[in-house]
Amino acid sequence: MIDEIMSYLQEARERPVFQQIPEEISIRLKEPLPVEPQGAEKACDDFLNNVLRVYQTMNVHPRFWGWVVGTGTPMGMLADMLASGMNHNVEAAYTIPYQIETKVLDWLKEMLAYPKEAGGLLVSGASMANLIGLTIARNTMAKFDMRQEGLQKAECKMTLYGSEEMHSCIQKSVEMLGLGNKALRRIPVNTDYEIDIKALENEIRKDRDSGCQPFCVIGNAGTVNTGAFDDLNAVAEICAKENLWFHVDGAFGAWVALSPDLSHLASGIKKADSLAFDLHKWMYMPYGVGCILVKRREDQLRAFSLVPEYLRHDEKAPVWFSDYGIELSRGFRALKVWMSIKEHGVKKYGRLIQQNVDQARYLAKLIDESPMLKITAPVRSNIVCFRYTPSKYDEHSLKELNEKIMYQLAFSGAAVVSSTTISGKYTLRVAIVNHRTTRKDLEFLVKEATRLGNALDRAT
Ligand SMILES: Cc1ncc(COP(=O)(O)O)c(C=O)c1O
Repeated sequence: MIDEIMSYLQEARERPVFQQIPEEISIRLKEPLPVEPQGAEKACDDFLNNVLRVYQTMNVHPRFWGWVVGTGTPMGMLADMLASGMNHNVEAAYTIPYQIETKVLDWLKEMLAYPKEAGGLLVSGASMANLIGLTIARNTMAKFDMRQEGLQKAECKMTLYGSEEMHSCIQKSVEMLGLGNKALRRIPVNTDYEIDIKALENEIRKDRDSGCQPFCVIGNAGTVNTGAFDDLNAVAEICAKENLWFHVDGAFGAWVALSPDLSHLASGIKKADSLAFDLHKWMYMPYGVGCILVKRREDQLRAFSLVPEYLRHDEKAPVWFSDYGIELSRGFRALKVWMSIKEHGVKKYGRLIQQNVDQARYLAKLIDESPMLKITAPVRSNIVCFRYTPSKYDEHSLKELNEKIMYQLAFSGAAVVSSTTISGKYTLRVAIVNHRTTRKDLEFLVKEATRLGNALDRAT
């Protein structure tokens, strides 16, 4: 199994980045529930023959740039294997895995210049981290005991704020927290897709005047559409002035903190009351590992701590991880973080992140030089939005044409990019959180997108 997966990783570049699922595999996978044992060898062979040897390479490929999807490393993979082998439930403070997760949290705080004494927890990803952060925000800022009374007790509507470019997981969190999507105020952005600070202040004032209770602002450190950064220092200032919780969604973008060129964009992160980010995106670790950090550990404990009789433990010992979040049983996801950071060291991560930023700038330059391709949003960090633009096309035809380019890039196995709509324009989108990408890959993308665009244009 190890030999096979090592070859898979080693040969990733030679394989197509994407291919449709072969019909016969779909048929074979529809097998009935195995009631009698099939044996380990058959289970393994079925995986090799129906999955690994025939499956599209996807995000371990150097030319995968869709959505914001991480790439993983061999060390991360092997650490996951060791963690599964130990099968430890990382919970109680008297275990070595607990100490490793605690150490990892300390390292992450140091890497992101976040206060040392902050609380934190590793979770499955940034969606979960945002949910935990916003739960703590809601409970801490409520004017009553939220855990006892729930939102039923609220005398006025609790409202929170973020830019129109917020990730959809924030809306999901707000819905799950019983606040309702309408309480999440979407503030317009400026031409760089950063939150409009004046509009934010106005909206907060308007809500106060109409009897609402504004309680939280969500700052974006790297928006999913364009990789834009809100002015986090300005947002922090408003939060301090207005007595609001400052939460930062830094799913991938928090890591510009390690980039020599862009670390200033993350300078406001240390002011956040809570910070959500991923390790499985721009830290190149295998799925799924994200993190929530909370400036005042007591706020996190107040929101989550619950010790029933059957979990009672030494009260003088450090608090168990279940008191910091939702999960009781939790795997040893800290191991891959610990081993990866030890293997590579922080400086190398900084170089890789800077490399991706430089690659995004290089791609933007290639697009600028190309007569038929056009950049559709400012390139702030690692995301490049562009499209093929023959002059005679209206918006609807441009969408159709570029959608076809995206699918043909993928179905030919050349490259995976995704798409979005910004300022009403359909656009292709390249998010580089890939340590295997080279500049040649980006040159190839520009050539292929142009070739496909030309061919499709000629055919219409
Ligand atoms: C800005 C932002 N926030 C949150 C998320 C959700 O993160 P996850 O997929 O790890 O749950 C993403 C995912 O791409 C993102 O880009």
